[in-house]
Amino acid sequence: MGAGQTCPRFNMAVLQGKSLRKTFPGVVALDDVDIQLSSGRVHALVGANGAGKSTLVKILTGYYEHYEGQVFIDGRPVSLRSPMNAFSNGIEVVHQEVDIELVPSLTVAENLYLEAFATGHSGTVVRSRQLRKKASEDLARIGFPLPVDAKVDELPLHEKQRLVIARALLRNVKFLILDEPTASLSLLEADKLFDLVEDLKNRDVGILYISQRLDEVARVADEVTVLRNGKVVAHFDFVPQLEEIVEAMLDSPQEELFPKKEKRDFGDVVLKVEGLKWRNRVKGVDFSVRRGEILAITGLTGAGKTETLKLIFGALKPDSGEVFLEGRKLKIREPFDAIKMGIYLTPEERRKEGLILDKPARENISLPFLKKLSRSLGVISKTQEVQYAKRSAEKVRLTPMDVERQAQYFSGGNQQKIVVGRWLSGNPKVLLMDEPTQGVDIGAKREIYQLITEIARNSAVVIATSEINEAVGIGDRILVMRDGKVVYEVDRSEANTQELLSYAAGVKS
Ligand SMILES: Nc1ncnc2c1ncn2[C@@H]1O[C@H](COP(=O)(O)OP(=O)(O)OP(=O)(O)O)[C@@H](O)[C@H]1O
Ligand SMILES: [Mg+2]
Repeated sequence: MGAGQTCPRFNMAVLQGKSLRKTFPGVVALDDVDIQLSSGRVHALVGANGAGKSTLVKILTGYYEHYEGQVFIDGRPVSLRSPMNAFSNGIEVVHQEVDIELVPSLTVAENLYLEAFATGHSGTVVRSRQLRKKASEDLARIGFPLPVDAKVDELPLHEKQRLVIARALLRNVKFLILDEPTASLSLLEADKLFDLVEDLKNRDVGILYISQRLDEVARVADEVTVLRNGKVVAHFDFVPQLEEIVEAMLDSPQEELFPKKEKRDFGDVVLKVEGLKWRNRVKGVDFSVRRGEILAITGLTGAGKTETLKLIFGALKPDSGEVFLEGRKLKIREPFDAIKMGIYLTPEERRKEGLILDKPARENISLPFLKKLSRSLGVISKTQEVQYAKRSAEKVRLTPMDVERQAQYFSGGNQQKIVVGRWLSGNPKVLLMDEPTQGVDIGAKREIYQLITEIARNSAVVIATSEINEAVGIGDRILVMRDGKVVYEVDRSEANTQELLSYAAGVKS
């Protein structure tokens, strides 16, 4: 039974948004949207990239001072024009861009109780030792272990995300909004989050849940609203067949997600990695990739996938180990060296590492260093740069298709498309991609897989992904990493999802 509907509860609360509308110059991001959150229910909000989901979230959390329409709590109109307004109405959010709400120079413990500092609840402002102790205890209580002393800017993305979720949980939340909360969590971590969501439901929290992973929606939701081009196009008071959701989202029926793989022969080894080590995160990784081959590296978050790619790309300095390109040992001191050799990386943390937010998409696609490089080699002229950007943007179906728009004004999924699109029209020898479809809608995902397959005809491609289905769907060969080491390797034809998961989780070794 959907909780709380027939038997009224003590803590019942209802949040209603009515006729919500938000425009930006040239875009109607949200158009006459009604939405309702009720205690003890999970309301899933789905829609393609750019449909307006995050805009709605931002209205409900007081991010915008100006919007049209009205929000009510228990029938009373409330003013949500600043984050403080939302906070004092018991509305908490985990934004899609986690870094918005963290202070990077402070520790995990300090970030956990930021609000207490800001509002000056003197009782909760405590000395640092007590603060650490309290943080450890609180995190243990909700089952979210995190290094309480670590500075936030040293945390990997998934830990930042965990921190923000934990913080929302520790406050006395009435309505919790989760915008793509599992985008950088692994399967097992996502499982823990679902348990928490269940727990919060039982404690009468009303939840708005946004995800591009529709299987999750099926698992957690009590009701579903579908947005398309800023409008509500469907609402279900239950979870319908996923095909029905996709059809409403994309206005077209679903096709096969992964490209069909014809059996083909691979060329020579292009990239070879030997004994790569870095701190206690990468503990001696070896592998090689041939021309024409897609190697998928999967594993839980924190297994060392991101670090491995960064070591090859020169974004981290290996403690030991060698990288060979076409049989030649490389000296890569910084990413620029890698790029010169034709080794490209699309990073995981796009806002921080992948994009210059206040520059147009065009410049982000053909980044300044790429420009400089190509000029010295005489490869790309100014007009070619524009063409290059447009071609890449079209390939990933950037929405809106406007390469002169600043990166920060694109939706989360479209920012990801800019990062992925950057290398697609180049001719990489080695393309390294870290979680390339994180937060990307199912229609655009299919396009990206198709493009990766095309690129792989003449390149060696390495994809790090914590989605095992993606690894099996796109990889010719799959490696599983766990705790900084490769623990399993399998050909796509023999890959079995359950088996891969057991290795990733350490059930098998
Ligand atoms: N600050 C802004 N300035 C201009 N346009 C914006 C701004 N914020 C959002 N938009 C536009 O509003 C529309 C809705 O964006 P929104 O971020 O709400 O989409 P979304 O559904 O969250 O997508 P995603 O799945 O990619 O996260 C998009 O066309 C986006 O480009
Ligand atoms: Mg969004």
